Amino acid sequence: MTDTNPTSGSASSPSLENLLHETRSFPPSAEFAAQANAQADLYEKASADRLEFWAGQARELVTWKTPFTETLDWSGAPVARWFADGTLNAAYNAVDRHVEAGHGDRVAIHFEGEPGDTRTVTYADLQQEVSRAANALTALGVQTGDRVVIYLPMLVESVVAMLACARIGAPHSVVFGGFSADALRSRVADAEATLVITADGGYRRGAPSALKPAVDEALAPKEGADPTTVRKVLVVRRTEQDVDWVEGRDVWWHEALAEASDQHEPVAVEAEHPLFILYTSGTTGKPKGILHTTGGYLTQAAYTHRNVFDLKPETDVYWCTADVGWVTGHSYVVYGPLVNGATQVLYEGTPDTPHRGRWWELIEKYKVSILYTAPTAIRTCMKWGDDIPGGFDLSSLRVLGSVGEPINPEAWMWYRRVIGGDKAPIVDTWWQTETGAIMISPLPGVTATKPGSAQVALPGIAATVVDDEAQPVPDGGGGYLVLTEPWPSMLRGIWGDLERYKETYWSRFEGLYFAGDGAKKDEDGDIWLLGRVDDVMNVSGHRLSTTEIESALVSHEIVAEAAVVGAADDTTGQAVVAFVILRGSHAGRASTPEGAAEVQKELRDHVGKEIGPIAKPKKILVVPELPKTRSGKIMRRLLRDVAEDRAVGDATTLADSSVMDLITAGLAAPSASSED
Ligand code: WTA
Repeated sequence: MTDTNPTSGSASSPSLENLLHETRSFPPSAEFAAQANAQADLYEKASADRLEFWAGQARELVTWKTPFTETLDWSGAPVARWFADGTLNAAYNAVDRHVEAGHGDRVAIHFEGEPGDTRTVTYADLQQEVSRAANALTALGVQTGDRVVIYLPMLVESVVAMLACARIGAPHSVVFGGFSADALRSRVADAEATLVITADGGYRRGAPSALKPAVDEALAPKEGADPTTVRKVLVVRRTEQDVDWVEGRDVWWHEALAEASDQHEPVAVEAEHPLFILYTSGTTGKPKGILHTTGGYLTQAAYTHRNVFDLKPETDVYWCTADVGWVTGHSYVVYGPLVNGATQVLYEGTPDTPHRGRWWELIEKYKVSILYTAPTAIRTCMKWGDDIPGGFDLSSLRVLGSVGEPINPEAWMWYRRVIGGDKAPIVDTWWQTETGAIMISPLPGVTATKPGSAQVALPGIAATVVDDEAQPVPDGGGGYLVLTEPWPSMLRGIWGDLERYKETYWSRFEGLYFAGDGAKKDEDGDIWLLGRVDDVMNVSGHRLSTTEIESALVSHEIVAEAAVVGAADDTTGQAVVAFVILRGSHAGRASTPEGAAEVQKELRDHVGKEIGPIAKPKKILVVPELPKTRSGKIMRRLLRDVAEDRAVGDATTLADSSVMDLITAGLAAPSASSED
């Protein structure tokens, strides 16, 4: 890696201000430090005996049905087995044991619908609802080990559905509601799910949006595709929209739950029993089903949630703005907070509906004390102006978290000053779908935080930065982020494809987990994340694969070839920019501005249909050629230069070095591009 600028992976280009911030750090206040859950000795305890440390966390934070006797079995590396001879139930840990401990009246969820409807769910309510749902699933034929796909908006039912699956030992696979019918179909098929839980729709941007039609389409017979494995579809009623109904297959959630008993005995499963599969983008076109199991995952989700956010379950009100369709929603809306007995806010809609102060209004209303969100959201709010959050009382906030992409120092400073009142510590948390839980982050009562850096591996976690030869770089050096020891919540593989798991994460550096992120160590040894070094893009904290979008584009009849790059974007971190060559007979279509706009729209909609609206390119540029090396590899670096309006870099390795001139000359013409 030659690029060692700590802000290069984030939205803005380095400025003097950035560099000055780099040297600043913010130690915790004496008051915060004195009361923090995690003290400095946590690092010492963990390094004295790492495995014993994790065994201690597992015993302290999780209730086991049968205690484990062995902490880690790494003999099957790179597939780890943690706490393998113990048994437990995830839903029991997230719900029942709090009721048994006398906290049944504690609020688990303050739900706020986008239209303003609210619902308060205590742990006792949650126990009844999850039990009913577990009984309903069983009545519909779901057995331990069967996969259930969940395709829902952000509702209490989403949490209940996940926990009901966990309660009967049926691994769930949540598919984000923004994915298309086609994306849903391939995930359902890969997981061979037998049941889908969905809703008629949800409220988004002030209007009901539909979900059920996508499920109907995803499960319908399709030429060339195997018949679906799904036998039943449970439908939550949220918006009262009319839905098509397949008799014998579709069942209303409220009816199924009404008939079910609220008594249910959680199924104790082995620690290594699959808890969920979550599909994520990788470097090839096919999404990977990341597999997580029960005991180790719960342990690390609870441990990180307690220590990184300094959760005090009796007094804190916690809010993570992530959707349950992403891993952040799994670990920090569902499992981490609930296993720890937290009270949290769950919000259905967007931050700007009905007004741009909605989030801050919710923080004031529920006296939220811990907020966990993504840099994109922070940058968007920053753009909207200080006076919007300034109009609300945010003094309840005491810890702020960031996740999903590198946070640029300006956004970090704004978050601290405007949202955190210059006092709440910021924890910039690095982790992945694959890691299951937070890996690198400051501890809020211990670490002097630095704007823009995730800083240090958590106690019990071993991370470093290596060069091309797998050698750790010295302080001040840049390279690749790797994890050097197995951790409890690590993925146990890619669903149905062990080879791909080994190849993707363990083949680049012998014995080291390759995260796919570039990183640098500063002079203090703190880690700065620089963005992906592979073909994965990060748009608004969502992972998208360049190859997957390219495949979607070339599946359109007018496209001959396509290349996609992630270009730096001030708000979303990266934006999808596509370069396409049109097929012969269509080539002339983009020669007028109207024609080009039409082609763009058609292709954007096509990507939306193939993958989902989140994957629609921001710009599509019609070009006569693509820059390729002599071996036929597309040089995305050069396309990124074009997409970011920079002078094109060294093009000498191109098979035909005049191609870049052709591309840039063509783009100077009026037909080049438009945005929406
Ligand atoms: C990026 C999200 C910098 C990174 C939890 C990683 C980050 C990918 C950070 C995983 C952070 C996540 N700083 N980059 N604090 N957190 N990333 O699987 O590139 O959706 O590899 O998991 O997001 O994205 P995923």
